[in-house]
This record gives sequence, C-alpha cells and structure tokens, in this order.
Amino acid sequence: DKGNHRHFMEKEIFDQPEVISHTLGRYCDFAAERSAVADDGIDFSKISRLTIAACGTAYLSGLIGKYWIERYARLPVEIDVASEFRYRELPISDDTLALFISQSGETADTLASLRYCKEQGAKTGALVNVTGSTIAREADAVFPILAGPEISVASTKAFTCQLALMASLALRAGRERGTLSPADEKELVHALSEVPRLMSQVLHAVQPQIEKLSRELSHFHHVLYLGRGTSFPLAMEGALKLKEITYIHAEGYAAGELKHGPIALIDENMPVIVIAPHDRFFEKTVSNMQEVAARDGKIVFITDESGARASELKTMQTIVLPDMPEFIAPMVFSLPIQLLAYHTAVFMGTDADQPRNLAKAVTVE
Ligand code: M6R
Repeated sequence: DKGNHRHFMEKEIFDQPEVISHTLGRYCDFAAERSAVADDGIDFSKISRLTIAACGTAYLSGLIGKYWIERYARLPVEIDVASEFRYRELPISDDTLALFISQSGETADTLASLRYCKEQGAKTGALVNVTGSTIAREADAVFPILAGPEISVASTKAFTCQLALMASLALRAGRERGTLSPADEKELVHALSEVPRLMSQVLHAVQPQIEKLSRELSHFHHVLYLGRGTSFPLAMEGALKLKEITYIHAEGYAAGELKHGPIALIDENMPVIVIAPHDRFFEKTVSNMQEVAARDGKIVFITDESGARASELKTMQTIVLPDMPEFIAPMVFSLPIQLLAYHTAVFMGTDADQPRNLAKAVTVE
C-alpha cells in the first residue's frame, strides 16, 4: 500500500525515519549508550580480516561500512562486487569473517560468494532484509536490517538501514577489539540516536527545493557526482539511483580523482553534484569544486550549515542540511540524493518504481 504517496519509492523514502529507528534500536542500546551485545557467535577480537561481497546499492553500503570498521575497529576490510568476488579465488583463513549484504537475500552472485567463503572455511554473516531468504538460511549468522518490505526496484530504505546496521557493527567491533574507548562509543551511539529525528527534519525541509532542482537536472544528459571519505560511496549511490530511474547517464567519483580524468568532461553542459558535509575533507572537496566552477560546470552543492557558510562559490543550487556529527552524515545525506533521483524521474515521466530492464531481485548471473 502506497498510502498517500504516488509511488512506492516515495513512500519508502519517507518511511526511513521510522524504519531506521527500528534498526538502530535493535543494534544499539541507547539506554546504556553503547552498541548492543549480541549472541550471534561472532567475536570481533578473534577476527583479523573482514571481507564483504554484495551487488549494486548493497555493495555501496558495504563500502561505507568499510570506512567505519577500519576507523573504529581497526580491522582491515576487503570488499568487492559479488560478481567479481565469486570468481577471484580469494585466499581465506579461518580468522576471516565474510559478510554478505543483500536486501532480497536472493541475489545469485552474492549467494555464490557466500557459498565460496563457506567452502573455504570462513565464518559467514548475512545482512538481509528478507530473513527467510536463501542467503539468510545459508549464513552462520543473520543480521536483519528491519527495513520492512521494499517494493520499489530502486533501493532506498534498505540502503540506509544497511548503513545503520554497519555503523552499529563497527562500534561493536571496536568495543570487542578494544580500539574504541567507552567515551567515544558513547558519543557515537548518541550521534546514531539522532538519525531518525534529523531524517524527518531533512525530508520535509529539502523537498520543495529538490523538486525545483529536478526540473533543471532533467535537461542534462550527463551528471557527475563527487565526494570524499564516506561521501564517495554516497556519490556512487547518487549516480546509480539517478541512472536507474531517469536513464540520465551519471557517474560517481572520488573528488580527488577529478584531476585524473573526469575533469576533461567539465563544461557548461555538465552538472556536478558535490556531496560535502563540513567534515575533515571539506576544504579539499571545495578546492575540487573550484576547479569545476573555473570550467563553467554547473554545481549542485549538498552540504550542511557550516559548509554553506564556509564556501562562497556560486552554485546552480546549494542544498543545506543541519550540522551533524561526521559519523552519521552518510545516512542523512542519502535523503537529498534519493529525492533528487525520484523527483527527476517523476518530472521526466519515467516509471520510478519499475524502471526498464531491471528486476528487484537478480536471481540469475
Ligand atoms: O537484493 P540485493 O540487495 O542483493 O540487490 C542488490 C542490487 O541488485 C540492488 O541493490 C540494485 O542495485 C538496486 N536496484 C539499486 O537501487
């Protein structure tokens, strides 16, 4: 049931504050201000390497998880798209934990990657939305993302719930490995507790501005998304969402890679969507933005209040989110990115829920 919404995608975007609070409530203990204790048989202090395989949007949530797990749990994370992973013959030791992220739990390549890791003797964990799925059944441990049914082919709430779970797991791993102090854990868990409220606030605040921007964006044939740190996978997610439902060609790049090729494409016909909360990378991303501006690229700047104050560049549009801790930014910054793809599709008249050539679960190779 779409409720008052035109499409499932729109409903699922607006479901996010509620469903993410379920995910966070399951994997964090807000009363104790720490990540939740779990009896899933995994002890991160006994693991020396984490490997992740997934496809599409699930792969991109894993990529953001990698930044968090490496930073807070000091655990090396290796991640690949499942279609490559399954044939790579990755050497696996028995202190490897292999995680598989899949909304449907039925993606053929992800399932084959799981089976490969099991054969090699790794401990396996499944981050799934559909808990009765094949991937959930075959993994040693199951981590439900609790997003509720996701009908739209373009994944939205599953993505942010995957992020919420990865963020909580990173903190738990940090505690178990002794790499995260109780004070830091407390601060980060507190930051997570703010996500649902910030999400509701942002969903309502940015909607009119994004609708207007969508109209402008619909006239272009190519769009580039840029970000650094966790905003880099988010840039790729923005590009994936846009191409999936509007058929506009879009690419997501690490902002620092601009000089290594894509800058050659920049002219007045190239909108560049820059995702830059006011974090450790902000100044560097702004200097990339200057390079775009100097070549007449049309900038859409997605930032927070501090970021908006700190940059004086002329942009096609600046979308300003509230200030928030760096840790939770990927979850909240997902919203303008999803809304932008959605409204552009609505404006262009493409089918947001059922884009051409795509299936919700890719059960064949
Ligand atoms: O069900 P899964 O999470 O395994 O699906 C993986 C991808 O097929 C999926 O995320 C796809 O990229 C989405 N349509 C993106 O919106």
